[in-house]
Amino acid sequence: MDFKGASILTVDQFDLGDLERIFSTAEVMEDYAFGNKITKVLEGAILANLFFEPSTRSRVSFGCAFNRLGGSVRDTTGFTFSSMSKGESIYDTSRVISGYADIMVVRHPEEGSVAKFTKSTNIPIVNGGDGIGEHPTQALLDLYTIYKETNVTLRSLNNVKISLIGDLKHGRTAHSLAKLLSIFKNIHFKFVSPQELGMPDSIVEMLRAKGHHVQITSDFINGIRGSNILYITRVQDERFPHKNDYKKFKGSYSLTVDKFKKYCNKDTKILHPLPRDSRELKMEIDNNLNNHPNLAIFRQTDNGIPIRMALFALIMGVEDKIYQHVIERSWFRPSLKNKM
Ligand code: CP
Repeated sequence: MDFKGASILTVDQFDLGDLERIFSTAEVMEDYAFGNKITKVLEGAILANLFFEPSTRSRVSFGCAFNRLGGSVRDTTGFTFSSMSKGESIYDTSRVISGYADIMVVRHPEEGSVAKFTKSTNIPIVNGGDGIGEHPTQALLDLYTIYKETNVTLRSLNNVKISLIGDLKHGRTAHSLAKLLSIFKNIHFKFVSPQELGMPDSIVEMLRAKGHHVQITSDFINGIRGSNILYITRVQDERFPHKNDYKKFKGSYSLTVDKFKKYCNKDTKILHPLPRDSRELKMEIDNNLNNHPNLAIFRQTDNGIPIRMALFALIMGVEDKIYQHVIERSWFRPSLKNKM
């Protein structure tokens, strides 16, 4: 795809060559992402970071990624503090913001809503999560994590065995990751969920039509055996029409260190898009795995910065100019804790 000036709305926009371009750019960004080097290549550029749903990782990491490239960030959070609460349309909001900023990231609770922001502007829009639809940049950082954790070339990710576990009906990160992995060959998917929270049929049918192996099970132990990657997700309380309906699913699939040792391969890596629900009896990943070397969840969140920096650099057309804008770092930063 032509990244320069493009909006990023769905993983369907990417092919293997695009992934190679994003990942090779992300690898260049790693030194800058963690403050070892400083570039000002986006000095003067402004990101509008519009989040109409709760977020910790995506909102902050999009902002930090833009800042790490030297750009400035303006945030809005929630409907309450936006004029959408006074009835302003997506059309008007998007047109107004595009007069202030050079690029927008949008998270919104309705599936398909982020694409509507492109109707009244020419500035690039990046989908930061649209309801139960997609979360394309999360899928990119998830795939980047799989690529780094399995220590193979991107093209040899074929044949990976991955279990996607939890609320696969409402989980936009699981939708985007399954679709993104479909670019490769002969992927073995296990979709592990209560029957009511299964992966949408359209995605299952697409994967089978492309020749991938798809096994669907509600049995957790069967679901985690034999996979290279466990991709665990949270039951999405906020997506259930009746407030208490989600409760029967809470804690139904909880990975503990004992289950991991007993049923998983030694080199199986544990991923989760986070947030994980750490309230008692609801844990998707028990705290007793926190220091396990195969738990990749915090390396995964760290990867959000170089991946989002890479996307911004490609969209803003500065990926080859990073080095021309390097300045010396004058401040101290300790190394990351648990950077295993
Ligand atoms: N993974 C993710 O989207 O997390 P946040 O909801 O905290 O942004």
